[in-house]
Amino acid sequence: MTSQRIRKAVFPVAGLGTRFLPATKTVPKEMLPIIDRPLIQYAVDEAIEAGCDTLVFITNRYKHAVADYFDKAYELEQKLERAGKTEQLELVRHVLPPGVRAIFVTQAEALGLGHAVLCAKEVIGNEPFAVLLPDDLIWNRGAGALKQMADAAQASGASMIAVQNVPHEATGSYGIVATEAFDGRQGRIKAIVEKPKPEVAPSNLAVVGRYVLSPRIFGLLEATRPGAGGEIQLTDAIAALLAEQPVHAYRFQGTRFDCGTHIGLIEATIRYALDHEKLSDPARDMMQRALGELGVKDQD
Ligand code: G1P
Repeated sequence: MTSQRIRKAVFPVAGLGTRFLPATKTVPKEMLPIIDRPLIQYAVDEAIEAGCDTLVFITNRYKHAVADYFDKAYELEQKLERAGKTEQLELVRHVLPPGVRAIFVTQAEALGLGHAVLCAKEVIGNEPFAVLLPDDLIWNRGAGALKQMADAAQASGASMIAVQNVPHEATGSYGIVATEAFDGRQGRIKAIVEKPKPEVAPSNLAVVGRYVLSPRIFGLLEATRPGAGGEIQLTDAIAALLAEQPVHAYRFQGTRFDCGTHIGLIEATIRYALDHEKLSDPARDMMQRALGELGVKDQD
């Protein structure tokens, strides 16, 4: 991969979000809010911060809410303008900042994450690009995880996969890598396998939903047959990429919340509330009260 700056980011958002039914009957899981912004907005902001100006959303034909959210809301903007609500108007307008464009590609069939990424092939063309899974929300006070990875990819010319250690018994929920020795935050990946059982997992270093990938991945995805869960896995195409080009595991700075699970979404909400300018104090008081009341109950 050449040391090009990434400009395009792919967001696979075609999943059914069955874990959050019944809410996800009508609201895509990417639209579930942490405080007042939907999950997808956090991922989009991270991509823009990393330098991306072209955002490619891989959706299914039922998910209009994501496209509507990034579309211009003429009536709402007019109303806010007339009412002199300039602060709210800015919030609505800056869902996408000027100069950033959103492109929507429909994934006709839910054939897996690898297939979803392959749907972006024509829009991406022959340049390195990012993939962000909005379920994985990464909180950091400094540069976002993707910006860290984009800088590292540009400096080294390697593809980058975000990783973090997970409990050994959890390997079956993740892509798992085996690497050479780490140099700082990076280690060259020797092997990668999708959702291995703990008995056969090569390590407990798990893939988190941030990738900077060489466009070579598209040719490899085209040749990838269904793998774990009967799906076309991005992990399997990355395994093929390892034989041709350097791919590095990247230990990002930041805290990752798995917002694809109930507890992860709750944890993220609490963390963002505790770090929020206006909500921090009332949130802390409320939590102390709630814990106190439940503590009393536990002793009953
Ligand atoms: C996907 C990837 C997996 C990765 C995970 C991170 O799995 O296939 O390799 O570890 O995202 O969140 P999913 O959670 O979509 O099953």
